[in-house]
Amino acid sequence: MRTIKIFDTTLRDGEQSPGASMNVNEKVQVAKQLARLGVDIIEAGFAISSPGDFEAIKTIGAELEGPVICSLARAREEDIKKAWEALKDVPKRRIHTFHSTSDIHLKYQFRINREEALKRSVNMVKLARTFVEDVEFSPMDATRSDTGYLCEVIEAVIDAGASTVNIPDTVGYSIPSEFGALIKALRDRVKNIDKAVISVHCHNDLGLAVANSLAAVLNGAGQIECTVNGIGERAGNCSMEEVVMALRTRRDIFNADTNINTEEIMRSSRLVTKITGMSVQPNKAIVGDNAFAHESGIHQDGLLKEKSTYEIIKPETIGLHKTKLILGKHSGRHAFKARLDELGYKLSDTELNSAFERFKKLADQKKNIYDEDIEALVSEEVTRIPESYSIIDLNIVAGINQKPTATVKLRVDEELIEKTEHGDGPVDAAYKAIASMTNTKSSLLKFEVKSITGGTDALGEVMVSLEEGGRVVRGHGADTDIIVASAKAYINALNKLAVRRK
Ligand code: KIV
Ligand code: ZN
Repeated sequence: MRTIKIFDTTLRDGEQSPGASMNVNEKVQVAKQLARLGVDIIEAGFAISSPGDFEAIKTIGAELEGPVICSLARAREEDIKKAWEALKDVPKRRIHTFHSTSDIHLKYQFRINREEALKRSVNMVKLARTFVEDVEFSPMDATRSDTGYLCEVIEAVIDAGASTVNIPDTVGYSIPSEFGALIKALRDRVKNIDKAVISVHCHNDLGLAVANSLAAVLNGAGQIECTVNGIGERAGNCSMEEVVMALRTRRDIFNADTNINTEEIMRSSRLVTKITGMSVQPNKAIVGDNAFAHESGIHQDGLLKEKSTYEIIKPETIGLHKTKLILGKHSGRHAFKARLDELGYKLSDTELNSAFERFKKLADQKKNIYDEDIEALVSEEVTRIPESYSIIDLNIVAGINQKPTATVKLRVDEELIEKTEHGDGPVDAAYKAIASMTNTKSSLLKFEVKSITGGTDALGEVMVSLEEGGRVVRGHGADTDIIVASAKAYINALNKLAVRRK
């Protein structure tokens, strides 16, 4: 049984999804979850692309133990030096450098010939090797490159010191039989191929990223590059949860598995959804809301008799437990902390105190508290940012024959202010009052509300996206009262804008 390495690029290619950019704190949260998930390598960013990416790579490298931390770098000296600067204090590090190899890219984008591209690739792999032992090289647009030339480049970069050669289907053009054959051709034709791990990086433009990656495994690939929920440039990347579960479920076919702790899949998916604001479609394999929902009477009948009749994966395998009643009003701090430990959250004392206080408040409003409620509380705690605005009070008048009115009291820096506004509905009224007190110039791009658990006393979770001067930020708020949750989400996003402005 081979072990296929999982190279997670949620924080780099995933972040290239339109509107999915994450701040350093959010990236660190995702990275910690990826470590719990058991990925082998985390591509934490593209060091030269922005100060935020640089900082994220450094911080993730300093805070995480376990996975190798990687920075992307174009095949340019300044990129490789920047990647090294971000990684130099990280014990397990990798530089991932890339250069296009397809004639289309070389002719129209780079305006150089094949020989020059090969020379740059080799020189930059050599340069990266002067800094780190672990160097990965990607011939970008490999699937539209001439196979003979591709073999030549791969052989040369392995000779130059690359220990992983990654074959990207950059534009998601390939189909499984063809991609599998390409991996086989590399194994047959590149003389020194046994000195490197073959990796694959498939985009999903034709909906084939997972199928292509699996075809590559059948032909000898030893590393898959993927993202949580399959987010990424355009139609996204190979979806981590799908490819991992395909390997696990059909070990009989692949004779291969990964180091992934699959019980962390659902939590990883939810965290990435929450942080990026990109929801998963209900029918998405593995992590969609309907992935384990059986509607047909015939199926339900079979399932009641024997689960394996219609279930190929046990929901618990991906961490989807029947919602468990865990804590209530009388639970103490010790039980709360023990449950957080079981859920894999390690909070500082201050974070724990504040989360416990909020848990007690919630327990007063809500009879039963479930794991999902705890996760909502904790994720608010760990993604807390310095607050220029905080909500002190909110009063709403609304009804069928009432003009919706909101009176909101805010602390703006150190001052307490209050404002009453009318609106089309209670959320509109509250948002108008908040907007006027904070003098925001931002516009609301997205507003989503959903219930975290079942029941009329469930926590409602609101996610908003705000845009100001070309910057987009997301805010979250959770409360048993959805108007309060809406106000919290708006204030959270306004605080993020304030941090960025400062
Ligand atoms: O899709 C692609 O080709 C990439 C490379 C940088 C590996 O993301
Ligand atoms: Zn890519």
